[in-house]
Amino acid sequence: MAPLRLGILLAQLSLGLATNVYKSNLAYRSPFPDHPQLAHDINLIQSNHLQRRQSIDATQFDDGHYVTFYGSDFSNSPFVWGGGVNFTHSVASGDPFDTSVLLWTRATPISSSSGVLPDQSVPICLSYKIGTTADLSGKIVNTGEAFTSYDVDWTVKVEATGLHPDTKYFYQFSDCVTKTASPIGSTRTIASANTPAQSVNGGKPLTLAVFSCSQYQAGWFNAYGFAAHNTSADIFIHLGDYIYESLGNGWAHTSKNRQKDTGKGAGDDSRLPTTTESIQDRSESSDCAPKCTMDHGLDDHEVADNSWKAGTADSNDTAIGCSFSPSGACFTDRKLAAVRAYHEWMPIRQVDPQDKLRIWRNFQIGKLLDLTMLDTRQYDRDLTDVYYNTDVNTIAAFANRSLMGAAQEQFDSDTGLYDTVSESKKRGAVWRVLGPNDASRQQIVFTQLNESGAFDLDAWDGYRANRARVLDHLYQNKISNTVILSGDSHANWVSDLAHPNDTTTYNPATGEGAIGVEFAGTAVTSGSAFGSGISPANADVISRTLVDVNADLQWSEGSYRGFFTLSIDSKHLNATYYAMRNVSFANLDGFASAHFVVNAGENKLSRPVAGGTVNAGVLKSQV
Ligand SMILES: *[C@@H]1O[C@H](CO)[C@@H](O)[C@H](O)[C@H]1NC(C)=O
Ligand SMILES: *[C@@H]1O[C@H](CO)[C@@H](O)[C@H](O)[C@H]1NC(C)=O
Ligand SMILES: *[C@@H]1O[C@H](CO)[C@@H](O)[C@H](O)[C@H]1NC(C)=O
Ligand SMILES: *[C@@H]1O[C@H](CO)[C@@H](O)[C@H](O)[C@H]1NC(C)=O
Ligand SMILES: *[C@@H]1O[C@H](CO)[C@@H](O)[C@H](O)[C@H]1NC(C)=O
Ligand SMILES: *[C@@H]1O[C@H](CO)[C@@H](O)[C@H](O)[C@H]1NC(C)=O
Ligand SMILES: *[C@@H]1O[C@H](CO)[C@@H](O)[C@H](O)[C@H]1NC(C)=O
Ligand SMILES: *[C@@H]1O[C@H](CO)[C@@H](O)[C@H](O)[C@H]1NC(C)=O
Repeated sequence: MAPLRLGILLAQLSLGLATNVYKSNLAYRSPFPDHPQLAHDINLIQSNHLQRRQSIDATQFDDGHYVTFYGSDFSNSPFVWGGGVNFTHSVASGDPFDTSVLLWTRATPISSSSGVLPDQSVPICLSYKIGTTADLSGKIVNTGEAFTSYDVDWTVKVEATGLHPDTKYFYQFSDCVTKTASPIGSTRTIASANTPAQSVNGGKPLTLAVFSCSQYQAGWFNAYGFAAHNTSADIFIHLGDYIYESLGNGWAHTSKNRQKDTGKGAGDDSRLPTTTESIQDRSESSDCAPKCTMDHGLDDHEVADNSWKAGTADSNDTAIGCSFSPSGACFTDRKLAAVRAYHEWMPIRQVDPQDKLRIWRNFQIGKLLDLTMLDTRQYDRDLTDVYYNTDVNTIAAFANRSLMGAAQEQFDSDTGLYDTVSESKKRGAVWRVLGPNDASRQQIVFTQLNESGAFDLDAWDGYRANRARVLDHLYQNKISNTVILSGDSHANWVSDLAHPNDTTTYNPATGEGAIGVEFAGTAVTSGSAFGSGISPANADVISRTLVDVNADLQWSEGSYRGFFTLSIDSKHLNATYYAMRNVSFANLDGFASAHFVVNAGENKLSRPVAGGTVNAGVLKSQV
């Protein structure tokens, strides 16, 4: 009897203690914690480790024990890997609240001197700590431990809690067994919702750096490095296409022949979006990951090219689409795998365990701004342009089409966009910054864009009623100081926000009658639709036509890869666009291409637009 009782006791103990250690790694919540058939069963993972301990001769493995269990009796403690770890992707942090922030790393087992690696059931134990001194020598504000394993691709995502608002912090992970430490990262919290606008960020303007479309094959992520080293950005926002899935090895943008880039890469092996091995490699070179606090959004390539709620240009529920899927469930499987990889690899919270795909959410950054991250791509988007279909053109204006989906627009929730911006106005926040993860392959943007007679139906131009509902809500409720951020199009577009074709209410020369501003930014690396392979001067010829035929469009620039910053205080919201000179090798050579001012209360770009001069691209002619 005695051994049996002992066994039960140990099982209970280990489940209680060890489960928590798995639980503190939020990567195991991926993708849907409350849907067991779609989540990791951490009790099972834990018991597998126990079984292996009890039934398999482990002498061939270079394991260590999880030393804080069971006092000094290690005989029944779960094994953890003791052969050393490699922090292959440095560290990262994101999704800051006022008193907490997510910390992320990836720790893979390295082979010991004997060359042995652990089998799949052996976890790695990491500890983490966060404090306010750069070398972490001072007081540690929060610390803890978390397990990771093969099941979550050795990723670790923990929430550091008990922090002070609007404060800079430093953090580090280390291996519980060997004490090997990761690089030290820096991060920050945001101001509490009720902080007066003038006091946010210690009274200094808050600077956001905004990125989109980081395609690995297309070049170096110099924009991240430039933002980290050459600007004073406080928070980085990535609007999507951060993980960049494509068929084959992904396409390289070497020519201007972008239309053919519908997914066929050099090789023709169909990569599923669980393969995320290279996403952060290029940012390591730029040193960003440890330094930047990121907010992330989803665009199409987080799953696949031009995805919508039930398909993508690369795979639909056809025989060809099904060949990507082990179960034959086609796109749904692929999307699940992508969402899971996304949550494992991104330092981002899962907003609502009941709402599996939801990442759209709102950050109240003092009374200075509400930063509303939308998902206009993966959440609930109606049929989009997937290249071979022609029907989107005829249905683009249907009122029953939505880009955002009903819940996110607002119809059956109080957390949808319309209520969020109304609530933001009501609570007295000065600015409303909407970071949608826009359309996909072409010009995009919220603003209507006539590009040589064509409209991009994968952008808001394919969802005109949804766009009209957003604008109506802003106009009818007199919600001012709204700024939309866009990416996805791989080019720069700056516009006043107004109803398309309405030059009665809106005056393109003075900006009178607009209800806000849109800042759409170019890609970190992905190629331009009209500026690749031609000189900036030749691209400007195209931009000239674009600003002439599109009433709301005030600046167009299509040559440079880069990003933009927003410098925000209670009086101004200024955007500075940065152009990287060459992304074909690692460098920090860039320049400010244009600077725009929005005065609080004016709901338009301040005139003369960009102070009347830009260093790249073309401004609308002022009459
Ligand atoms: C650690 O990972 C990096 C990045 O993958 C790799 O270059 C390096 O060789 C690895 N180091 C060891 C000791 O395995
Ligand atoms: C998706 O379906 C369309 C229409 O049936 C077909 O033309 C296209 O080749 C399919 N694409 C894939 C990748 O299966
Ligand atoms: C959507 O609206 C269009 C145009 O009014 C209509 O023809 C179509 O039947 C509607 N579709 C649904 C599913 O209600
Ligand atoms: C779109 O722009 C082209 C010039 O590129 C122009 O000829 C055409 O009239 C415009 N179409 C509309 C609907 O504004
Ligand atoms: C604006 O006018 C053009 C030309 O008539 C038309 O093609 C386009 O659909 C209109 N846009 C909207 C949103 O009505
Ligand atoms: C915005 O730019 C204007 C004009 O250059 C400047 O006076 C103001 O201080 C800037 N404000 C912020 C928040 O950057
Ligand atoms: C970028 O750098 C590469 C490598 O030095 C060079 O071959 C290429 O001409 C450069 N491109 C531009 C646009 O300067
Ligand atoms: C950006 O910062 C780096 C490091 O401080 C510096 O070497 C580089 O010259 C800067 N780039 C520009 C364009 O100022």
